[in-house]
Amino acid sequence: MNKAQKKVLVTGGAGFIGSHVVRRMVNKYPEYQIINLDKLTYAGNLSNLKDIENKANYTFVRGDITDAIFIDKLFEEYLFDGVIHLAAESHVDRSISNPLEFVQTNVLGTVNLLNAARKLWKFQSEQGKTNFRFYHISTDEVYGSLGAEGLFTEDTPYDPHSPYSASKASSDHFVRAYYDTYKLPTIISNCSNNYGSYHFPEKLIPLAINNIKNMKPIPVYGKGENVRDWLFVEDHAAAIDLIFHQGKIGDTYNIGGNNEWKNIELIHLLCKIMDNKLHRTEGTSASLITFVKDRAGHDLRYAIDSSKLQKELNWKPSLQFEEGLEKTVTWYLDNEEWLNNVTSGAYMEYYNEQYVRR
Ligand code: NAD
Ligand code: TYD
Repeated sequence: MNKAQKKVLVTGGAGFIGSHVVRRMVNKYPEYQIINLDKLTYAGNLSNLKDIENKANYTFVRGDITDAIFIDKLFEEYLFDGVIHLAAESHVDRSISNPLEFVQTNVLGTVNLLNAARKLWKFQSEQGKTNFRFYHISTDEVYGSLGAEGLFTEDTPYDPHSPYSASKASSDHFVRAYYDTYKLPTIISNCSNNYGSYHFPEKLIPLAINNIKNMKPIPVYGKGENVRDWLFVEDHAAAIDLIFHQGKIGDTYNIGGNNEWKNIELIHLLCKIMDNKLHRTEGTSASLITFVKDRAGHDLRYAIDSSKLQKELNWKPSLQFEEGLEKTVTWYLDNEEWLNNVTSGAYMEYYNEQYVRR
């Protein structure tokens, strides 16, 4: 992509990572028009974008990627120059209770976007315009689970275990199939676990922060031995910006924090930070740790080798985990209203009245 290209569709821009991507693109590229398409499920929240919602280069469209007719019309109306696709159902535990919703949004929704993108790209190619790209955001969970050693590389075979990771793996396969079959210019990135502001409090870190704040039990699955590789969400947004503009068509990039933590060790660090911030006696928050029944099919360890992205595009994470976690805790403590509104469903009621789905 070069600066002459202007209309960029970001799907899922009202969610956790999407809102950071939209904010970055709107602020950094005033010459672009950023169109944020989001269904506003329980996980999507326009209050995540309050600081940029009135900017001239930002447009919000409420809509569902599973609706092929709507998606086709949207592409015809805007004639996008590029797509960054983040919209998804994203929570593993929800995928275990309701797999079909994950198939619909993550697989069918992605194929609808690919079909619309293919038609638009063909039309643009016939007009002599050749720099369209479809960038699909995926997860390291498609690679399955590691033992004590090793890292996921871009060549690690897919081995998804949860309905969530199976749906993301399937969507990745479709994206590659559209590149191989139709030559649609696609790029994929697979990232490790993100943390930071605007993270919905059903995921481990914001859930634990919320529970510690309210002196409620912190549920740790199994023995807390599972390992995740945590990346600050703004570093992921920076990587997405870089890959969207400079990534090689047809390629895959792994993104990770080089920052592995056992869940139980992470929770202990979080408890220490929270005791400090809330002026509690050391050990108060840790007393809330409660070991609960393990997640079915719980992957033991994820860890990413991001050397390709570091070498080829000169990306690296900007923050140490302790610093990022402290920043995150401060954000949640300073944004109590946001936390209360997302947990009570108040935002959903408000948006359902404000925005009729197209
Ligand atoms: P999220 O659940 O916070 O946000 C998803 C967004 O998609 C929400 O705004 C939701 O309203 C929207 N959405 C859901 N279904 C939709 C539909 N049918 N049509 C239109 N919009 C819809 O998710 P997230 O954590 O921000 O993840 C974003 C993307 O990044 C996902 O594709 C996910 O697989 C991927 N990813 C996430 C992580 C992570 O740690 N969170 C790590 C790697 C990759
Ligand atoms: P999660 O935030 O759901 O991300 P993912 O499953 O996509 O990695 O979970 C991170 C880790 O924390 C994972 O090993 C499951 C574990 N976990 C708990 O121990 N307790 C919880 O309440 C949650 C939500 C997750």
